[in-house]
Amino acid sequence: MVAAAAGPHVPPGLTGRTTGAARYTAAVPTPSDVRPHPARLVVLVSGSGTNLQALLDACRDPAYGARVVAVGADRDGIEGLARAEREGIPTFVHRLADHPDRAAWDAALTDSVAACAPDLVVLAGFMKLVSPGFLERMRDRVLNTHPALSPSFPGMHGPADALAYGVKVTGATLFVVDDGVDTGPIVAQVVVPVVEDDTVATLHERIKVAERAMLVASVGRIARDGFTITDRKVRFGR
Ligand code: GRF
Repeated sequence: MVAAAAGPHVPPGLTGRTTGAARYTAAVPTPSDVRPHPARLVVLVSGSGTNLQALLDACRDPAYGARVVAVGADRDGIEGLARAEREGIPTFVHRLADHPDRAAWDAALTDSVAACAPDLVVLAGFMKLVSPGFLERMRDRVLNTHPALSPSFPGMHGPADALAYGVKVTGATLFVVDDGVDTGPIVAQVVVPVVEDDTVATLHERIKVAERAMLVASVGRIARDGFTITDRKVRFGR
């Protein structure tokens, strides 16, 4: 294994930020190329959880190098939570309405996620912004997937905004979350053509097919090989 770096939590295969750019390094592969300690993923969801399901399916293969240790949500009764429960994965829910204010909600969410000691936190259709405090605690290990080609069409309505603008291609973007709205360093992007008869629903569904494949491929790559960020450029590996 690679030596542990300083920091509050040192996961088995990923090390924390070095001076300057965020830098992660991977464990030396075992002869079988299967990591003895799969990267710990916490996935946050707000809806149907098809991206979560894609990760859960991928994690069945030990060679993928990751496992989902918990799923969190900001609301009850969603299919995303049901998907986790069906697989026996621990879940937690923090509803904004159950907390006196946004700061208290955010602190509770942060504590629940941190308690899982995640190597990566994946926001997979999580419809809330996380706070600077959350990001500070998670130290450049929070990924989000957005259904548009950043930097175009940030925010809650990526497919609708792309359609309304009349673009001919759109897609999805996986990025490392920073303090902005869908502005973080880009890990991967996938292009999806807009077709003439598209509605927001048909376009978003087609984006989601490509988005899931991108998410699974990229999270696996990070889990196995780590990544670095230098001047916003994300690169897999050391
Ligand atoms: C995804 O397109 C995600 O990018 C967006 O909401 C959708 C979530 O889909 N923020 P699901 O809940 O994973 O099915």
